[in-house]
Amino acid sequence: MSKRQHIVAGNWKMNKDYEEGRALALEIVEKLQPSETIMVLGTPYIHLKGVAHIISDINNLYLAAQNCHQEDSGAYTGEISTDMLRSVGCTYVILGHSERREYFQESDELIAAKVSQAIRHGLKPIFCCGELLQTREAGAQEAVVGEQVKKGLFNLTPEEFSQVVIAYEPVWAIGTGKTASPDQAQEMHAFIRGLLAAQYGDEAAQATSILYGGSVKPDNAQEIFSKTDVDGGLIGGASLKANDFIAIANSF
Ligand code: 13P
Repeated sequence: MSKRQHIVAGNWKMNKDYEEGRALALEIVEKLQPSETIMVLGTPYIHLKGVAHIISDINNLYLAAQNCHQEDSGAYTGEISTDMLRSVGCTYVILGHSERREYFQESDELIAAKVSQAIRHGLKPIFCCGELLQTREAGAQEAVVGEQVKKGLFNLTPEEFSQVVIAYEPVWAIGTGKTASPDQAQEMHAFIRGLLAAQYGDEAAQATSILYGGSVKPDNAQEIFSKTDVDGGLIGGASLKANDFIAIANSF
């Protein structure tokens, strides 16, 4: 077993009102068994403080935001800064999710700026990358994901990079019920780890947790997580049900 941290992170996306979010967090805390696996709840902004309060005494359970702004503060109506996220108890922030790339036109450059801002302000980015279906059909997935990783992360110093968690999420597997096969996930994770080794050295590459995301469910998690370079999951739909999310985290 690797010495890398196993991480199972939920991405609630734009789901659950405030009370429903609290109820979900409470149910997770109630049912969770002590474990070495790090669990992360990626909630909408409005839930963060309430959920932080609920999970504050629980070992290995942390809070993530789903986005942040790249500037410290100022006239950016509707935006949320990294310091604000820290002030409500966030440890992680999900950045570069394909839904933000696609629906909010987030470029590699913008994502890189958010990643460095997050790290400079004490948050750990969960940096997402992944290819579209037509890219995979054209066999260009490594070229595309490689570019996302280089442009999004490789301006970081080695020290900054040590804060990064990577999530490989093939876009064609998100919310579709279609997962990458365990071998497809392993192949891409090993490719990404190779890029990290070339840039930051083998030790840094071996220490970086690379999560798989895309239709992970209790019944497929174990097989995916059994692969050498898969260190956990970024979970959408199944993270909205306490039992499913916990079952996935227990799949290691
Ligand atoms: P699903 O697990 O619903 O496919 O979503 C994956 C995802 O996008 C997590 O960020």
